[in-house]
Amino acid sequence: MKHPVQGCGIGLRFQHIDQIVDRKPPIPWLEILTDNYLLPGSVQQDYLLDIAEHYPLTFHGVGMSLGSTDPLDTEYFSRVKALVERVNPVWISDHLCWTSVHGLVTHDLIPLPYTEETIRHAAQRIRQAQELLERRLLIENVSSYLQYQQSALSEWDFLCAVAEEADCDILLDVNNIYVSACNHDFDPLAYLNAIPVERVREIHLAGYEDRGTHLLDTHGYPVSDAVWALYAAAIQRFGAIPTLIEWDNNVPELDTLLAEAHKAAKVQAHVFA
Ligand SMILES: [Fe+2]
Repeated sequence: MKHPVQGCGIGLRFQHIDQIVDRKPPIPWLEILTDNYLLPGSVQQDYLLDIAEHYPLTFHGVGMSLGSTDPLDTEYFSRVKALVERVNPVWISDHLCWTSVHGLVTHDLIPLPYTEETIRHAAQRIRQAQELLERRLLIENVSSYLQYQQSALSEWDFLCAVAEEADCDILLDVNNIYVSACNHDFDPLAYLNAIPVERVREIHLAGYEDRGTHLLDTHGYPVSDAVWALYAAAIQRFGAIPTLIEWDNNVPELDTLLAEAHKAAKVQAHVFA
């Protein structure tokens, strides 16, 4: 099998845990927000072990702060590793960004300046993170609302260079590409076409909010038509990559999420018919 999980899954949200445990709907896989399950012996971890008996799970985190200048938080990594050893996820991902500085957590995924120095810095930390976890990581492109004057590269060249130097895989968020393309006026297809096919292991889809002056990546709406079109282009290039629907604000009924995942599967079926 080319991919250890296949098909289109959904992000597991607390609102749906009871239904998923009770109904066991036919979903090929689920992705958890790792940071919500790190308390040892918590009821959340017990739920997770129950769910892991029925579904392949992937871990998606926001706390590694892989681009920060702070030292890696080894306590955080040891908690993630303990959960990895209990649940054995298919893979682990986090974002190519920074979320903390001087020990203060921003709770935002802040982009990095796209420079040679930042490539070396982020890649070295991703390698260190992979060693701490004894697992390969997937790094995800974030949506952004600012650019740095110091950036000397495109975002896609930066992402490719970091993945190459760290020797890690890529979680490609197609919605984030679209949001950033609109906010910074670049061609999203140029982004897709620059990414090496062999490193992409997972795709994310989500819904943004149009604020008029910019698009905001709220994860609070259905996937837009433009992002569905970009997704079709992505899988034409990368193949039938496992795809995940993220929905974090105004979380709808479970069936709405399942319908979005089903729609992604239909796009794949249509592209590869
Ligand atoms: Fe994402």
